[in-house]
Amino acid sequence: MAIMIGSSIVILTGAGISAESGINTFRDNNGLWENHRIEDVATPTAWIDNPELVWKFYQTRRKQLLEVKPNQAHIALSKLEEGVNEFTLITQNVDDLHERGGSSNVIHMHGRLRTLRCEVSQKHEERMEEDDLGDDFLFCTCCTEPNRLRPDIVWFGEMPMHLEEIYEAVEKCDFFIVIGSSGHVYPAAGLVNVARSCSAKTILINFESPANAFAFDEIHLGKAGEVLPDLVNSWLNE
Ligand code: APR
Repeated sequence: MAIMIGSSIVILTGAGISAESGINTFRDNNGLWENHRIEDVATPTAWIDNPELVWKFYQTRRKQLLEVKPNQAHIALSKLEEGVNEFTLITQNVDDLHERGGSSNVIHMHGRLRTLRCEVSQKHEERMEEDDLGDDFLFCTCCTEPNRLRPDIVWFGEMPMHLEEIYEAVEKCDFFIVIGSSGHVYPAAGLVNVARSCSAKTILINFESPANAFAFDEIHLGKAGEVLPDLVNSWLNE
C-alpha cells in the first residue's frame, strides 16, 4: 500500500475522529442529538425563535475547545499529509483539532466554532478571547454599525461550505478515506459514491458499520485513535 505516497488522497472526517479527545459525537449514546433536539439548536428557525438557547449551546461548545486536545488519529493524519503528494482533508467537524494536530489546509464543510459570522455582511471573524466566550451576544467589527454575530456553523437546511472545491478534489482522487462518520448526513455521506464513480479506492475507519458501509472497498472497524496510526504507517511504509 506504499502506493499512497505518489497518489492523490482525500480524507473525509466526522465526529468519531474527535470522540477520543472527549468531544461528544452526534448520534451515539449520549450524543449531542440524543440530549438536544436538532430543531431547537441547529436550524435557522431555531436561531430566529430562540437565539439565546442556540447561542448558549454553541458558546458551550466553543469553550470546550480550550479543554480538549488532538488525539492519535488527528496526529496520524498530519503524518499522512506529510508523506504523500496530494492531500485534501475535508471535515464535517467544527472543532479545531485537525489544525492543532498538525494538518494544514483543512476544509470545514459544516463551518467552524472558532469563528463567528456577521448576520448582515456574512463575513466571519475569529473570536476566541475570554470575553468572547460568555453568554452575551457578540457584535461584528466589520460594519460601521456593529451587527449581531451568529455561530459560523452550517445548520440543517443550509448549504455546506466549499462544495465546489470539495467535489473537484473528490473527483480526481485515487484514495477516498472516511474516518468517524455515521453516513447519515448528505451531501457528505454521498461523497464516497462520487469517488467510486471516478474509480477511487474507498476506505472506511469507523467504530461501527455506518449507514453507507456498502459503498466502501475496505472497512476497518475500531476506534480511530487505535486503528489509524498503524494504518497510516502501513500506507506509507509497506
Ligand atoms: N473512532 C472512530 N469512529 C467512532 C469513534 C471512534 N473513537 N467513536 C464514535 N465513532 C463513530 C460512530 O460509530 C458513528 O458512526 O463515529 C460516527 C459518528 O457519527 P455522527 O455522530 O453521526 O457524526 P457525523 O457523521 O460526523 O455527523 C455528521 O451531522 O449533525 C450533523 O453537522 C453535524 O457534522 C455533523 C453531521
